Amino acid sequence: MAENVIFTPLKLGSLQLINRFVRSATHDYLADDRNGQVSDRQLCLYRNLAEGEIGLIISGHAYVHLSGKASPRQLAVDEDEKIPGLKQLASSVHETGSGSVVFLQLAHAGRQTKPGLTGGLQPIAPSAVYDPVSCILPRELRAEEIPQIIEWFVQAARRAQEAGFDGVQLHAAHGYLLSSFISPHTNRRQDEWGGDWEKRSRIIRQIIQGIKKTCGAQFPVIIKLNATDHLPTGITLEEAIKIAVSLEQSGLDGLEISGGMNEAGLGSVWPGLRKEQDEGYFVPLAAEIKKKVTIPVSGLGGIRTLKVAENFLSKGLVDLVSMSRPFINEPALVKKFASGELKKSLCLSCNKCFNPRGVKCANKK
Ligand SMILES: Cc1cc2nc3c(=O)[nH]c(=O)nc-3n(C[C@H](O)[C@H](O)[C@H](O)COP(=O)(O)O)c2cc1C
Repeated sequence: MAENVIFTPLKLGSLQLINRFVRSATHDYLADDRNGQVSDRQLCLYRNLAEGEIGLIISGHAYVHLSGKASPRQLAVDEDEKIPGLKQLASSVHETGSGSVVFLQLAHAGRQTKPGLTGGLQPIAPSAVYDPVSCILPRELRAEEIPQIIEWFVQAARRAQEAGFDGVQLHAAHGYLLSSFISPHTNRRQDEWGGDWEKRSRIIRQIIQGIKKTCGAQFPVIIKLNATDHLPTGITLEEAIKIAVSLEQSGLDGLEISGGMNEAGLGSVWPGLRKEQDEGYFVPLAAEIKKKVTIPVSGLGGIRTLKVAENFLSKGLVDLVSMSRPFINEPALVKKFASGELKKSLCLSCNKCFNPRGVKCANKK
C-alpha cells in the first residue's frame, strides 16, 4: 500500500477527510430536467465515486434559484421539495461506508445563462455588462435585491444540511454570479457591493456568515474561487489573495482555486493532454494563496499523474488535489492509485465527457 501524504487524512473544518483527493464539482446532466430533482442514475454515479474512496466528493453545481440555472438537467437546491431527493444522494455516498464525504456545490449562473433555461427569467448580474458568449445583456441587480440573493444561498445550505450533506461549496468561479461580483470586469458598481476588492467580495462574506449562523459554526463551508479570469480587466492574483484571507476571517473552512470565464475563450476545463510538468495549471495560483491562509487549499487543472499530485503535496504547494475528468474516466482511480494498478489517469482531456445525455467518458467502453 502507498504511504505518501496523499493517502493520509486531513482536517477540513469539523471533518476529517480520509485522504487528499477531491472530486471537483462535475455537472452530470443527469437530474430531472423539469425541476432539477435527483435521479436514480445520479445515485448510482455518487455510489460509484464513494466506493472509489475519494476523500471529498463535491457535487455538480446545484442552482439556488431558477434564475441561476446554467445548464439542462442540472441539479437544484432551490426549494424544500428537493430535500428528499438530495437526502438520497448524500446517503448513496454515506451508505458505502468508505469514509468519503460529500459537499453540495451551491451555484447561481448570473449572466452566463439564457431565459430558455430559467423559465423566462432574465439573467442577473452585478452590472449590465454584455456577455458575448451567451449573447445576453443581464439585468443589473438593485442594491435592495442583494440581501435576497444572499438568502438564496443561505437557504440552499440549510437544505443541503437537512439532506445530510457534510458541507457545501460556494461556486465563485468561472464567471457565474459570485465570480461576477468579485471580478472588476463584470462588477462596475459604485455602491457598497462594488468598487474595491473588499466591496466586490462583500456578498460572499455575508453568505458565509449567514450559513454559519443558520447551519452552525461546525457546518463546513468551502469555496471554489477564481484567482484569474484570463481577462486583462478581470480579477488579479493579488486581489484573490486578499479576498481569500478575508473569507477565512469570515469563517470559511477551505479553498479550491480555479480560473477562467466563458468570454475569455479560456475557461477552467482545458482540452488536450499536457506534459507532466504542465499538469496542475491552476496550482501555481493556489500555492500563492496557500502562503497567506491557514485553511486547507486544493489545487486543480489537468492533474493526471499520481507522482505529480504527490509532489504538489510534499512540496507544500497545496493541501489537497482536485480532479474532475479523471473520475469520469475511472471512479475507482484513488483505489487504483493506492494499489499500484494505475500510476496515471487514462483521461485524454478530450472534453467529450460534456455529454447532454449524461456525463460519460467517450474513450471508455
Ligand atoms: C463535465 C464537466 C462538468 C463540470 N461541472 C462543473 C461544475 O458543476 N462546477 C464547477 O465548479 N466546475 C465544473 N467543472 C470543472 C471541474 O470541476 C474542474 O475544475 C476542471 O474540469 C479542471 O479539472 P480536471 O482537469 O481534473 O478536469 C466541470 C468539468 C467537467 C469536465
